[in-house]
Amino acid sequence: MKVYEVIEKIKEWHQPYIEQEKTRDIYLCGDPQTECRGVAVTCACTLEVMHKAVEKGINLIISHEGITYNYEKKYQRDEFKNETLLEKLNYAKEHDLVVWRDHDHMHGTFLREENRRLRHDMIFYGTMKELGWEEYLTGDELKPLLFKVPEMSAREFGQQLIKAWNLNGLRIVGDLDGRVSTVYIVEHVIAGKFDDYDLGKIDMAEDIDAFIPLEIVDYTLTSYVRDAAYLGKNKIIYEMGHFNAEELGMKYLARVLPEVLGMDVEFIQSGDTFNYLIRE
Ligand SMILES: [Fe+2]
Ligand SMILES: [Fe+2]
Repeated sequence: MKVYEVIEKIKEWHQPYIEQEKTRDIYLCGDPQTECRGVAVTCACTLEVMHKAVEKGINLIISHEGITYNYEKKYQRDEFKNETLLEKLNYAKEHDLVVWRDHDHMHGTFLREENRRLRHDMIFYGTMKELGWEEYLTGDELKPLLFKVPEMSAREFGQQLIKAWNLNGLRIVGDLDGRVSTVYIVEHVIAGKFDDYDLGKIDMAEDIDAFIPLEIVDYTLTSYVRDAAYLGKNKIIYEMGHFNAEELGMKYLARVLPEVLGMDVEFIQSGDTFNYLIRE
C-alpha cells in the first residue's frame, strides 16, 4: 500500500469530519507516493522518534504535533537556517520517511454556531479509554474532560498519573496532602487572547479537586489554585506539559489503527519532555 492510501484510510476512519481549508493535517516531510513499509504513531515527532521508527524498518509516522520548532504549518526550507532542523529533515529524506500530521482530524469537527460536535475529540476520548475512566465520566462523552474518580489522596492519584502516562514525574501546584475525586483535564490555560476562556474554567474550578492541564501560565488558574489550597480547599494541579498530556490520545489511535489499516501499527512514545532536578 502506498503512504497516501494509508492516510486516506485514516481520514476515512475520522469521518464524519469537515475538512478545513487551513488544515494542519498535511505531509510534514516525505513523498506520499512512497510504498508504506510500516506505520508508527507518536504524539510529537522528535528526531529520536524518527530514529526509533527507522530502526524498526518503519517509513510512515503519524504525529499529532509538528516537526519544526514553530507554529507554522509548512516549513520553508530555504528560509530556515537552523542546523538541527536541517539535520532532522535530512535524516528523514535519507531514510524515505514520511510524516503526516493528524491533529485537526484527531480533535474532530466542532460546529461553533450549533455548539455541536460531529464526532469525538479522539485525543480526549482516547485518553479516557487508555486511563480506563469511562465509568468515571461526568462531562460530555464526545469530549471527555470531567471525571469523578474514587476518592484517594492527592499523592496516590499523582502516582497513578505518572504510571499511566509513563512520566518522569509531575510538577505540582496546590495541596499534595489533600484528597482528590473530581478531576478536570483542563486543556490549554494560556491566557492572553484566551482570557475569557480561562475565566470560564476558574468559574467552575470551585467544584474541582484536581486539574490536569496541557500548557498553563501562572497568572490565571495556577494563581487561583494557590489561593484556594492556602484556604484549605482540595485543589491541586498536576502539570505534565502539553505534549505529554496529549500522548495517551495518540496511544489510543495506535491501538485502533491496526484494524482500520489491516497492518501492524507501532506506538512510539515521544518520551517525557521533562526531567526533574529536585533540591537536595
Ligand atoms: Fe497539541
Ligand atoms: Fe492536540
